Amino acid sequence: MNNSSNRSCLTIILAAGEGTRMRSNLPKVLHPVAGLPMVNHVMQAASEAGGTALAVVVGNQAALVGEAVAAQDNQAQIFEQKERLGTAHAVLAARDAIEKSYDDVLILYGDVPLTKAQTLIELRGMLGDGVDVAVLGFRTENPTGYGRLLEEDGNLVAIREHKDASEEERKVEFCNGGIMAFSGKLALELLDGISNENANNEFYLTDMVEIARAKGLNVKAMEADVEEIIGVNNRVELAQVESLWQNRKREALMLAGVSMSAPQTVFFHHDTQIESDVTIEPNVIFGPQVVVKAGAVLRAFSHLEGADVGKDVVIGPYARLRPGAELHEGSKVGNFCEVKKAVIEKGAKVNHLTYIGDARVGAGANIGAGTITCNYDGMNKHFTDIGKNAFIGSNSSLVAPVKIGDGAYVASGSVITEEVPDDAMGIGRGRQSVKKDYGSQIRARNAALKAAGQKK
Ligand code: UD1
Ligand code: MG
Repeated sequence: MNNSSNRSCLTIILAAGEGTRMRSNLPKVLHPVAGLPMVNHVMQAASEAGGTALAVVVGNQAALVGEAVAAQDNQAQIFEQKERLGTAHAVLAARDAIEKSYDDVLILYGDVPLTKAQTLIELRGMLGDGVDVAVLGFRTENPTGYGRLLEEDGNLVAIREHKDASEEERKVEFCNGGIMAFSGKLALELLDGISNENANNEFYLTDMVEIARAKGLNVKAMEADVEEIIGVNNRVELAQVESLWQNRKREALMLAGVSMSAPQTVFFHHDTQIESDVTIEPNVIFGPQVVVKAGAVLRAFSHLEGADVGKDVVIGPYARLRPGAELHEGSKVGNFCEVKKAVIEKGAKVNHLTYIGDARVGAGANIGAGTITCNYDGMNKHFTDIGKNAFIGSNSSLVAPVKIGDGAYVASGSVITEEVPDDAMGIGRGRQSVKKDYGSQIRARNAALKAAGQKK
């Protein structure tokens, strides 16, 4: 196969559709899969496939879609299709870009988010090998509604839309996925030849096949896995695509050395980064921007977002890491602990029922059960600085801003409002008093009351 990276390529993503069946105020192509809008998944595949230039055709809520496109790639050209007159009409909205005469033009769809870059590279490779129009198809036992790919002697001779197909043609199970690549030099000549004489009075991009054939050009279809071509029209399909995406991510991670005993219960974000030899127990959920280093163990039911989990760290079960949580090598954050915008330094332990927010926990420090950093005064957030090897007794409240020195102790149940210097001990609670024989006196009084028939 020819190396497609030697050839210039204009990728055009069609993203003008209304998406009525989503029943949403959000444009369809902005609905997220693994937290990333569908159109951005498509852009990512296009860029990985080595596209030189990118054009996105927008229509419905053009400005919003344009913003999401520009956020990912500010070089992307955005074209507006004012009226929806068919897929060929949509492609021609990008006429100014097509006129630049790239080697290849690749057509993708903003609502078809699972196409692999490798597949696009192979499709473009066909152009490198002398094909003029290459169409990506898939096979299904239930082809109703799809355009059928009609082949003769290994050549694609036509794509017949379901509505326009004969009984015989409707039996064909090789379907048009919509994605296609064609010669950039011939693009305008072919596109301008398309008319709207069909059941829908639309300009069908698919008619390019017969037009190219009539000109004696080389037209071929390539088969892809149906998964890669699934388009999203409603939220049921969106959930199916999400599930397929999650499966791919799980498999990729497991093959890269991540252990999961129940992968079906673990959910990733599109940008989750996990090194090898990490173990993930069931029901762990990843929000945006999580990085997990080698050897870490994420125990069951933990929830992570915006967190950096260092080498050999153990979290959970039931840990919650919020944005800015930074857990250094060998530290531990145990059950029912929440960490937000805080650094837990090397080997420090936060084992049970604790909230650490806006804080530093020094290396080797031990935070007792039920410790709370009181970081918020109703107006502002304040910082708690806990020194290395400090020991915070259980059920302490550290009222920020406050500093606990290196090697310092805080007595259990303290409310700490002032600095505890290095190696000192801070106690901030009422002193205990002991009343001798009080227990037996209470029991004697209760027994007397009971005998007198008064239950009180
Ligand atoms: C299209 C194909 C069909 C294929 C099917 C696969 C054509 C004519 N038909 O049919 O062969 O089997 O996809 O899903 O291409 N769009 C615009 N502007 C328009 C019209 C469409 O941007 O004026 C966008 C839509 O938002 C959508 C895509 O193009 O993302 C496909 O259009 P749609 O009308 O859904 O085509 P299908 O009938 O599904
Ligand atoms: Mg469709």
